[in-house]
Amino acid sequence: MFISKLVAPIATLILCLGEGNVVEAITAAAFAATSFDYIIVGGGTAGLVVANRLSANPHIKVGVLEAGTSGLDDPIIYTPGKVGWAVGTQYDWGFNTEPQPELGNRPLFYSRGKALGGSSAINFYVWMRGNKPDYDAWAELGNPGWDFNSMIPYFKKPETFNPPTPLHATNFKLDYDAADHGTSGPINTCYSTQYSGAHQHWHETLEHLGVPRRDTFGGSNWGVWTGLTSVNPTNRTRSYSASEYYRPYSGRPNLHVLTEAMVLKVIIQNVGGHHTATGVQFRHGGVTHTANAGAEVILSAGTIQSPQLLELSGVGTSTHLTPHGISVKVHSPHVGENLQDRIMNVLLYEIDPTVANQSPLKDPVVLAAAETEYETSHTGLLTVLPNDFAYVPLHYLLNETYTNHLRSLVVGTDDRTLNIKSKLNHSLALGSMEYVFDPNILFQVGDPEPTKEYGTIFQMLQYPFSTGHIHITSSSADVHPKIDPKYFEGNGQIDMLTMAEGLKFADSIARQSPLSSIILGRVVPPEPAPGTETDWLEFVKENTVSDWHPIGTCAMNGGGIHKGVVDERLRVHGVKKLRVVDASVIPVQISSHLQGTVYAIAEKGADMILQDFECKRRRRRGRR
Ligand SMILES: Cc1cc2nc3c(=O)[nH]c(=O)nc-3n(C[C@H](O)[C@H](O)[C@H](O)COP(=O)(O)OP(=O)(O)OC[C@H]3O[C@@H](n4cnc5c(N)ncnc54)[C@H](O)[C@@H]3O)c2cc1C
Ligand SMILES: *[C@@H]1O[C@H](CO)[C@@H](O)[C@H](O)[C@H]1NC(C)=O
Ligand SMILES: *[C@@H]1O[C@H](CO)[C@@H](O)[C@H](O)[C@H]1NC(C)=O
Ligand SMILES: *[C@@H]1O[C@H](CO)[C@@H](O)[C@H](O)[C@H]1NC(C)=O
Repeated sequence: MFISKLVAPIATLILCLGEGNVVEAITAAAFAATSFDYIIVGGGTAGLVVANRLSANPHIKVGVLEAGTSGLDDPIIYTPGKVGWAVGTQYDWGFNTEPQPELGNRPLFYSRGKALGGSSAINFYVWMRGNKPDYDAWAELGNPGWDFNSMIPYFKKPETFNPPTPLHATNFKLDYDAADHGTSGPINTCYSTQYSGAHQHWHETLEHLGVPRRDTFGGSNWGVWTGLTSVNPTNRTRSYSASEYYRPYSGRPNLHVLTEAMVLKVIIQNVGGHHTATGVQFRHGGVTHTANAGAEVILSAGTIQSPQLLELSGVGTSTHLTPHGISVKVHSPHVGENLQDRIMNVLLYEIDPTVANQSPLKDPVVLAAAETEYETSHTGLLTVLPNDFAYVPLHYLLNETYTNHLRSLVVGTDDRTLNIKSKLNHSLALGSMEYVFDPNILFQVGDPEPTKEYGTIFQMLQYPFSTGHIHITSSSADVHPKIDPKYFEGNGQIDMLTMAEGLKFADSIARQSPLSSIILGRVVPPEPAPGTETDWLEFVKENTVSDWHPIGTCAMNGGGIHKGVVDERLRVHGVKKLRVVDASVIPVQISSHLQGTVYAIAEKGADMILQDFECKRRRRRGRR
């Protein structure tokens, strides 16, 4: 299904640590015997940010439990040109959704990172942020402090932006304003030095379709642009939470990270009449342990597993807990609900073989040469990433009558629905649909012939109505929860109709010069017979997949436990000393790939945790 299966790379895990990079090992027994202040569940994107910021205070003892292996130093994780290869490997939980009735009953593959760094270890390196109204909506839903302007310092804090030379910026059409970026954060961002042969055509093609070149980090992201990537500029390796927030700090005596440690549940006890998180139960090497946290337990297990762990710990509803023998400690009706994911369609074109980028790597001789070049000089095919992007407002895809018709189909008047509905507006300049071109097959679709080269146009809907849920199907943490995104159900039918219209625009990109000069013909879906037209609606139903940006299952949604799972300080309603810090707290989708926003959430979350720690310390001192 994925390129990893196509080219079968051999994932060799070599743990060779350079000087100053000593990864401190702790045994499971020692971890369980330690009195931590904070235990973080999941050493993923957000979890390692929080671990880093808290343990910067030498008086705070932090423990992190990560189910995956390290993954540090595995080329499949750190090599940009191997983008996508770790999907479906040992570094992926490999979830599947329930069969989706509106998608021909297909279950969809649902990738999630399982390693230090979590999904930031296997993601596709895109670094960006959403529109000002996207975050302002979070605040409007009842979460003060989460509007765009308040978030700016947290967007910048994780980042060190490495600007290109003016000549490079001109040659490769890089539009940016350095003032929108961070200058001293752990994650390095930079533009690629080498591009696919198609890159030179991309901007002009979209400009011919009326989409202008724009800088996209200042609160408005629509336009055509070259992607910024989370890559170290010196050696062209992945810059992610494990390599930047954890490894250089792994020698801190007050920070302990245990990998291959599966958390089974949070221990919630009655302390002074309040449900209180006091620690976690985890399994390592077949042995179950308990670890204690004096200050807080922080769930950073991601959008799928943070709600799973809440339910396993007795936070949820009797409907979902009682059948599995779990008694409800805290009735919290939104745990696992409000799952919103991004949906994607993939069009495949046969292209001029001279512009293909990754598929030459299918040839073991080419791959070996590229690996040598990459390891010795950090150049070549293995530094090339997909970075031809366009975020396009609705009026490029839909006529006004049709937009108004779609809006008239929306059912429901809850705040979240009204927010998404407000974006279904012909006059708004918001990047409602994302298009990416890459001269490569990142997702195997159709029946590609080995002697030909292919290019892909991806289309991804940014403000979906489809809303589903995640719930446990067993009392065991090892059994994957049921993931039902309910794509195209209910108001989700509007997503389906929008995707179908959008694909006409996607196809027009391929037919527009100068990109059309390297495209030999459409392969998926096949060119229609003369006198007929492609049935895009049918295509959407049969071919839509997830592009793996789920949010919302532990949403902060204002209005207390009857509206959301956590409050605006990310504290779980109904349980003391328990927070969620990861993508699951996002209440409503943003027009953007998520990692930059998840890092920002984690930085802001860490700040709030440290503030609360200080307050408590002062109060304790005051009492003495
Ligand atoms: C294939 C893929 C490509 C993507 N591409 C991009 C991109 O190019 N740009 C972008 O901005 N975003 C991208 N994303 C999205 C982005 O990477 C994620 O939204 C983000 O990393 C999620 O961070 P998180 O902290 O919420 O969860 P994660 O980073 O997934 O962290 C959760 C961690 O918890 C661990 N865990 C879970 N359950 C347990 C348990 N019971 N016990 C112990 N540990 C546990 C997991 O192993 C994992 O390490 C992509 C995502 C995927 C999957
Ligand atoms: C690449 O460089 C970064 C930053 O200097 C460093 O942390 C990392 O270990 C290097 N990676 C490899 C594989 O050399
Ligand atoms: C608007 O778009 C819809 C959907 O494609 C189409 O059926 C309709 O004819 C269009 N209307 C106008 C006025 O172009
Ligand atoms: C669409 O957006 C415009 C511009 O913000 C606004 O004036 C108009 O009221 C909106 N239309 C609807 C139906 O919400």
